[in-house]
Amino acid sequence: MNAALFERVEAAVEAIRRRHRTPPDVAVVLGSGLGEAADALAEATTIPYADLPHWPVARVVGHPGRLVIGRFAGRSVAALAGRVHLYEGHGPADVVFAIRVMGRLGVRVLVLTNAAGGVNTALRAGTLMIIDDHINLLGVNPLAGENDERFGPRFPDMTEVYSRRLRAVADEAAAARGVPVAHGVYAAWPGPSYETPAEIRYLRTAGADAVGMSTVPEAIAARHMGIEVLGISCITNMAAGVLPQPLRHEEVLDTARRVRGAFTALLEGIVERL
Ligand code: HPA
Repeated sequence: MNAALFERVEAAVEAIRRRHRTPPDVAVVLGSGLGEAADALAEATTIPYADLPHWPVARVVGHPGRLVIGRFAGRSVAALAGRVHLYEGHGPADVVFAIRVMGRLGVRVLVLTNAAGGVNTALRAGTLMIIDDHINLLGVNPLAGENDERFGPRFPDMTEVYSRRLRAVADEAAAARGVPVAHGVYAAWPGPSYETPAEIRYLRTAGADAVGMSTVPEAIAARHMGIEVLGISCITNMAAGVLPQPLRHEEVLDTARRVRGAFTALLEGIVERL
């Protein structure tokens, strides 16, 4: 089964190489409402996910589903506008398929971005949070099952999932671009229902600052492959129970779109410092 996965990944890698000759050295996964940042790439090749063999296709509003490869801040960058989530019914291997492909394409730096709820009450909607660490509450791990050594080792270390070097680069870029950023721990929640206020209190006690439904499987798969990872959460809303109002997916998308300018500037500042 894993041999078959490796072959499926290689088939997608070949399909991308045929469409775009210059391999990317950086990949950026764009979270909910942030997908249009892909338009900032120059000399770009756009490949709809549906055109790539074996590539799982996203089914959520706000995830258009395209791979864009081009020049950005002086580097060859792959932007992944749209990702698949466990809550859509995809298996863990499918959720990290794109990351496997990026790794086999030669990407050495992966920037994972997402929309997240603010668990730490010091955060505000619209804040960009550099992820320092994560808590996996998804109940699954993308590395479960037979290990394929061509991807990485059986028991990869997770002491520093989010690279200290890249977090420092992000802080430098934020200061240079005048984009305020926070730092914190991201907890991955299965969804698709949002958390209850009691679950948010539980997450706060557990040490989480933000909560979302993605990113963690991708970060694990990337570290498995030895890829350096940076994570950025866009705090699109305060988590359930913090404010006296219900959560709405539209609010998530609206906030993410509102900070798009600052987000793209931060991303540019980061990539030009790599
Ligand atoms: N909870 C979980 N996922 C999210 C949230 C939230 O409050 N906001 C954006 N994604």
